[in-house]
Amino acid sequence: MISAQTQLCAIIGDPVKHSFSPRMHNAAYEAANLNFVYLAFAVKPETLKNAIASMRDLNIRGFSVTIPHKQKVIPFLDEIDPVAAKIGAVNTIVNNEGKLKGYNTDWEGCMQAISEKCSLEGKKVAVLGAGGAARAIAFGAQAKKAQVCIFNRTVAKAEKLAQEINCEFDALENFAQHEIDIVINATSVGMDPNINQSPLPAESLQSGFIVMDTVYNPSETKLIQFAKAKKCPIVYGSEMLLWQGVRQFELFTNQKAPVETMRQALKK
Ligand code: ATR
Repeated sequence: MISAQTQLCAIIGDPVKHSFSPRMHNAAYEAANLNFVYLAFAVKPETLKNAIASMRDLNIRGFSVTIPHKQKVIPFLDEIDPVAAKIGAVNTIVNNEGKLKGYNTDWEGCMQAISEKCSLEGKKVAVLGAGGAARAIAFGAQAKKAQVCIFNRTVAKAEKLAQEINCEFDALENFAQHEIDIVINATSVGMDPNINQSPLPAESLQSGFIVMDTVYNPSETKLIQFAKAKKCPIVYGSEMLLWQGVRQFELFTNQKAPVETMRQALKK
C-alpha cells in the first residue's frame, strides 16, 4: 500500500505514454513486497534540468531515462559510471541522499540477453547500425571481450564509431563478406510500421549465427523470421528490455530482481 514511506521511481522521456517500464517495475515491486512505486513523467527537453533538480528536491529514488534525454541529462548529474561515460549515454539515475549517479543498463541488458545463449568472449560480433543503441552495444560487446565489427548504411558513421572503440567496420551491404558468430540489429529497421523491412537479406544469414534483434515491436521481426528459417538461435529484443530493467531494479532497490515476474509483466 502507498504510505508516507513509499519510495518513488519513474521514467522520464518524451514520449513515455507507451513505455513498458511502469508495468515491469511495479510488478517487480509487488512481487518483492517493496514499498516502491514507479510512474511515467513526460519531460520536454526544455524542462529536463528542472526535472533533475526536482529529483533531488523531492527525494525521488530513481529515474529511468529514455529518448530524447539519454545524452543531455549527463551534465546535470554528480557522478557517471565509467562505462556510461564512455558510451556517452545514461539510461538510469540513482539518487543516493541527494547525490545523483548515472548508469547505462542498455548495454548490460543486451549482453545479458545474449549471454543466456552463449559467452561473448572471443566471438565475432556484428553490430548493425551506428546510432545511440549501436554505440551502447558495441562498447558493451567490447567490454565483454568480443571482436566487434560495426556495419552501417552510412559507412562514415560506422568508421567514426569504430575509431572510438578501436574495432573493425564496413558498409552494411558488405556484411556477407565477413566471418561472423553473432549478429545484433541495433538499427530501427523492421520496427512497426515498417515490419516488412530487414537490415539484412535472408541470404546473408548462415545457420551457425546467433541472431539478436533489439527491435521488440513486433517481436517476430523480418530479421528474426529469416533467422528462424535458417534455424539460427534467436535473442529477442524484449529480453534486452527485460535485462536492462532487471539491472535498474537492482540499482534502485539494492535487491535481487524477480526476473520471471518482470518477464511475464512485459508479455501482458
Ligand atoms: P538510435 O539512437 O535508436 O540508435 P539513430 O541514432 O537514429 O537511432 O540511429 C538509427 C540507425 O539505424 C542508424 O545506424 C541508421 O543508419 P544511418 O546512419 O545510415 O542513417 C540505421 N537505419 C535507419 N534506417 C535504416 C535503413 N532503412 N537501412 C539501413 N539502416 C538504417
